Parts: sequence; structure tokens; C-alpha cells
Amino acid sequence: MERDPQDLGDDHHEERFQLCEVELAQLQLTQKEPEEGEVLSGLSQRRLLSAVAMEEFEFPASIHLQKMPLFPKWHLPLKLMAVLMAVAFVYTFLRDVLQPYVSNGKNDFYKIPILVLNKVLPWTSITLLALVYLPGILAALLQLHRGTKYSRFPVWLENWMSVRKQLGLLAFLLACLHAIYSLSYPMRRSYRYKLLNWAYQQVQHKKESAWVEDDVWRMEIYISLGILGLGILALLAISSLPSVSDTLNWREFQCVQRTLGYTALLLCTAHALVYGWKKWVELKQYVWYTPPSFILACFLPAMVLLVKAVLVMPCLDKRLDRIRHGWERPSRKGRSDKDSL
Ligand code: HEM
Repeated sequence: MERDPQDLGDDHHEERFQLCEVELAQLQLTQKEPEEGEVLSGLSQRRLLSAVAMEEFEFPASIHLQKMPLFPKWHLPLKLMAVLMAVAFVYTFLRDVLQPYVSNGKNDFYKIPILVLNKVLPWTSITLLALVYLPGILAALLQLHRGTKYSRFPVWLENWMSVRKQLGLLAFLLACLHAIYSLSYPMRRSYRYKLLNWAYQQVQHKKESAWVEDDVWRMEIYISLGILGLGILALLAISSLPSVSDTLNWREFQCVQRTLGYTALLLCTAHALVYGWKKWVELKQYVWYTPPSFILACFLPAMVLLVKAVLVMPCLDKRLDRIRHGWERPSRKGRSDKDSL
């Protein structure tokens, strides 16, 4: 949930003027319609439309609502989320629903609305969260490789960096949904029937206690890690609100976003890994020769955390710090495009 570089100063400045713009806008609407093509004096159309809730017919004819941008910064993150969810859904459906049906004739289609979805949501969420921090790492590697900060990042990396806030907010939304879905597990009728069946089987086997120490610890730990991860994601989302981030200076904002962000990523990855526990090595988990979804879900976040851990090693960290303070590798001097960053 990083701050968009464009949010840095202007928004703060603009917001102060928002009230008087609203008043101006309302004033203007009560006046004569501007001629076709005439520019609204002193006000940008974007501001005029963002400020107040009005009916469409109240706008001057010169304003073409259909031509206005519709959440331009959200297009890429939403598309990415849709693709990731589709891939995760197909993968989980094949493994958890189709495989038991094809192999054993077992009808597990009831799993689709909650159990399958509750794998798709966290998988997409944690991947989006990793994608928030991956471009920063790529940028750091690029700077280390080039030995300067005065040369332009590739366009795709700049575009990616500019939508980190949106990616983070979507990750948070999906994580919240995942938490709600998870907490709904015991409410389901299927779960109650399963519980009754387990109890019956236990009596049949004349077993007094079903307590499995390992399983108890696994669940206590991974649920706790999940709750902590979600709590920190909530803090991150709050700190990215303009009204909050405007009260922080750039250093404070970076500190909150980086420290809390990586902590959240670490907690969520640990949550998924502890959930997996020993399933890594159980052969029966590899149905149709495919790994369980939590392994795939953890792969990218684990990579991001690993590379970050390497980058904070003193030798690299100091070098990066010097580069970011303007130092250049001697061979680079004169070659850099100083205007670009
Ligand atoms: C209140 C907070 C949370 C609770 C109660 C919770 C609970 C759970 C539960 C019950 C599962 C097992 C799902 C199953 O049996 O199918 C699970 C798995 C998982 N959770 Fe969470 N979780 C929480 C927060 C999070 C957060 C914040 C993330 C990361 C964004 C996350 C990522 C995952 C992942 C990746 C899995 C593995 C899913 C898979 O099998 O593919 N969880 N969580």
C-alpha cells in the first residue's frame, strides 16, 4: 500500500482547496452554460466532478461524463486480480473437486462456494501482497547493478510501482474476505455432519480422546499468525488513506509502509507455511502430481522475503544507501541520465 509518488505534495495542497472548489463548482452550475469547447475557468473538470454528488443532468453540457477516466489506476490491479483468481480457482477445483470425483466417484461439489473459494482468496491475496514489494526489490537490484540512481527504470517497472497502493488494498480486501470465510467454517451444515461422523467413528474405534497435540499446536499458531497478519494489513490500509498519510512526512510514511508491510508479508507467509505444516512431505497431498495450493501460494512471497533478507545484509544495504544518496560507481559517471529520477 505504498504511496503514489504523485500523491506526495499536490494532493495535500489540493485537498485544502477542495471545499472552496465545491462552492465554486456549485456556483458555476447555477450560472449560464458554457459554450461547447469552452474551458471551465479556474477549475479543472476532474476536480469539479470529484467534489460533489450530483445528478447527471445537472452537469453543464460541455462536460462529457462518458469521456472521463474511470478509476484508471485500478485497471491493471483489477485485471491482475481477476487472472490470479481464475488460475487459483481452476487449480483448486481440479485438485479438490474434480480429482475425488474422477478417481473415487466422490461428490465434493459442495466445496465450491466456501472451501474452494477460501483457497482462491488467500492465494490471490498473498500473491498481490508479494507483488506490492517485488518491484521495490527489482528497483534496488537494478540500482545495485547499474551503480547509480540517476538512470531511468524501465517503463513497465515504473507503471508497476505506481499501482502498488491499489495492489495492496486489493490484497487487504481479499484477506478480509478470507478471514470471514475461515471463521464461518464451523457454521456450515457440512462441517456439523462431518463432526458427527468423526464422533461416531471415534466411538466405534473405542477411542476416548481425539486430541492430537501436533494438530492443536499447528492450528493455534497459524490462526494466530493469520490474525496478526490481517491486523497489520489493516494498519497499512489505514495509513495509506490520504487523510492519514498527509499527516506523515515522507520518511515516516516509508518507515510505516516498509516495516509494517514486510512484517505483514512475513506473518502471512508464516501463517500459510504453518497451515501446511508436514503436508509438504505427505505424498497423498500431491494429487495428480500437483503440489498443494499453499506451496504455490507461498512461493512468490517467500522469494520476495528471501531476496529482501539478502538486500538488508550490511554490505549490500550500505552500498544501496550510498547509491540512493547520490553516489555513483566511477565507471557510470557521465553516462547517467540525470533528469530521469
Ligand atoms: C483472521 C485472520 C485469518 C484467519 C482466521 C485465517 C484462517 C485460515 C484458515 C482456516 C486456513 C485454512 C483454509 C483451508 O482449510 O482451506 C488458511 C489458509 C491460508 N491463509 Fe489464512 N487466515 C487469516 C489471515 C490470512 C491472511 C492475512 C493471509 C494473507 C494474505 C492468509 C493467507 C492464507 C493462505 C495463503 C492460506 C493457504 C491456503 C491454501 O491452502 O492454498 N490468511 N487461513
